Amino acid sequence: MNAPEKLPPSTFRFTLSAWSAQQLAAVEQALSRWVACPSNAPAPAGLGDAMRYAVLDGGKRLRPLLVMAACEAVNGNAHAALRSACAVELIHAYSLVHDDLPCMDNDVLRRGKPTVHVKFGQAQALLAGDALQALAFELLTPDDDSVDAATQARLCRMLAQAAGFQGMAGGQAIDLASVGRPLTSAQLHEMHRLKTGALLQASVMMGAACGTASLAAPKVQSALRDYGAAVGLAFQVVDDVLDVTADSATLGKTAGKDAAQDKPTFVSLLGLQASKDYAQQLLAQALASLESSGLRNTDALQALADMLVNRAH
Ligand code: IPE
Ligand code: IPE
Ligand code: MG
Ligand code: MG
Ligand code: MG
Repeated sequence: MNAPEKLPPSTFRFTLSAWSAQQLAAVEQALSRWVACPSNAPAPAGLGDAMRYAVLDGGKRLRPLLVMAACEAVNGNAHAALRSACAVELIHAYSLVHDDLPCMDNDVLRRGKPTVHVKFGQAQALLAGDALQALAFELLTPDDDSVDAATQARLCRMLAQAAGFQGMAGGQAIDLASVGRPLTSAQLHEMHRLKTGALLQASVMMGAACGTASLAAPKVQSALRDYGAAVGLAFQVVDDVLDVTADSATLGKTAGKDAAQDKPTFVSLLGLQASKDYAQQLLAQALASLESSGLRNTDALQALADMLVNRAH
């Protein structure tokens, strides 16, 4: 019998689409099972329908992919990462439901569909957001031995900090307080760091927290934190750019809202081209941080940073 042919290492090519498809198959299946599945965890009075509408069947799932990629880079516990990936996506989905409410951005289109409050009413949208937030923390605390207690606590703390007043909710408060008010560069950075960057950075750090302590060396931790900060900020800079350059059909949400609502954005601060250039600079910073981590398996993290900055929607 012939020996199996060995491919030289140089022929291996990481393909983001193939890697993502594999990760997302697991994430979508888990979300569908865990989010108020009627046969599994029925929710009363139509609440489950609103929750599932908000989470399933849409969204780029960038945060779950970052969690899975970071876990892979540190060769961590894939089950803990899958729970973390879903938990982060639930917080994100809840933030979108509330962001779209009439008292916030008053949007009618999200992920190519009518927003949750348009479809189910404002009260149900509020409750769906509340319930998704609570469910995120339930997912992080399984009552079996699949995730050790210390890791559960660490993951909960990281997500709570990124979602609360020191993160997303705090950033959203600045966003609403800043309508019609030009912000300085430092103020705009701070708003974006909190409202969007914190959850993206937490996605990376939660994935890394699913790894063993030896890989969680300070150098690795700080390199991943810098990577997460750079991609987190770049992500919102690109969101601001796309609001101006893309159309609603491509985005699946209403284009041109920022200018219409007089929101401070990177485009309003720097102009369009300088914002695009800034996003590329942040991408270079993110890749340099990864390089300095000393981690070897960072293909997915590299490719995700590139995709997130150079995306069309
Ligand atoms: C949109 O996030 C809201 C922001 C934080 C800027 P995404 O662009 O990741 O939205 P989905 O999840 O793909 O719908
Ligand atoms: C929202 O930012 C960030 C959140 C925390 C949801 P935006 O208001 O810019 O998000 P989009 O453009 O509506 O998706
Ligand atoms: Mg908003
Ligand atoms: Mg909005
Ligand atoms: Mg936006």
